[in-house]
Amino acid sequence: MGDHAPDAPEQAQPRAHLTGISRTAEEQAAWLEAGRLLFAAECRFFFAAQRIDQLPPATGTEVAFAGRSNVGKSSLVNALTGRRALARMSAQPGRTKQLNFFDLGGRLTLVDMPGYGYAQAARAVKEDWQGLMFEYLRGRPNLQRVVLLLDARIEVKESDLAAMGLFDRAAVPYQLVLTKADSVKPPALARKQEAVGQLARKHPAAMMELITTSSETGLGIAELRAALVGLADPGS
Ligand code: GTP
Ligand code: MG
Repeated sequence: MGDHAPDAPEQAQPRAHLTGISRTAEEQAAWLEAGRLLFAAECRFFFAAQRIDQLPPATGTEVAFAGRSNVGKSSLVNALTGRRALARMSAQPGRTKQLNFFDLGGRLTLVDMPGYGYAQAARAVKEDWQGLMFEYLRGRPNLQRVVLLLDARIEVKESDLAAMGLFDRAAVPYQLVLTKADSVKPPALARKQEAVGQLARKHPAAMMELITTSSETGLGIAELRAALVGLADPGS
């Protein structure tokens, strides 16, 4: 046993990273610790915007969570901040209908957005909150990063590609994140990671690092916290 134990079969542990930037074990530990510290701060809801002319002042660094309806944006905000019900989640798509702003320790603003690609929403409603979302994404001066969520269980849709194209054109850097990894068998998850990793390489504004998460099991949450540290204001 010991030294000669066979490697764990590939499907035993899903990995949070596909294209991990290479770090030594010490660098990795320091990176994760900085993420833990940032997200250990108090996080509080401070603003909800229903119209583009009603946004809070554009001060401080913002990170927005975007993705199709039901992909798990609100759940991910809750998992990152360690709060069960900070952002409202729902099994019904179309739960989040406004831009919800959360202040994280005065160092970072997290923005939970409505989803796109929700076919069932009434047209007028869709134009309302989906239009708000795209206007915000295109024009917010202090938006430093978008975390773009893709459901690990389903294929990348036209609406996801359209969102990526929009960020590429607006030169808003985006971090791709796979969600609901707990609901996918490891071989399928590995194929998905490979495919999305390749997609990221074709998009100029996509960050290299793909992070695979589960808000249920906590997979990848520490890594995503750490990936956002570089954006945060220094704090006092
Ligand atoms: P909208 O606000 O409607 O755009 O949805 P959303 O992207 O904010 O999704 P939300 O967080 O409300 O989650 C949608 C559904 O997915 C809920 O039923 C969640 O419980 C479920 N869900 C979210 N994250 C996970 C996860 O990591 N694993 C599993 N299995 N289910 C999840
Ligand atoms: Mg939501």
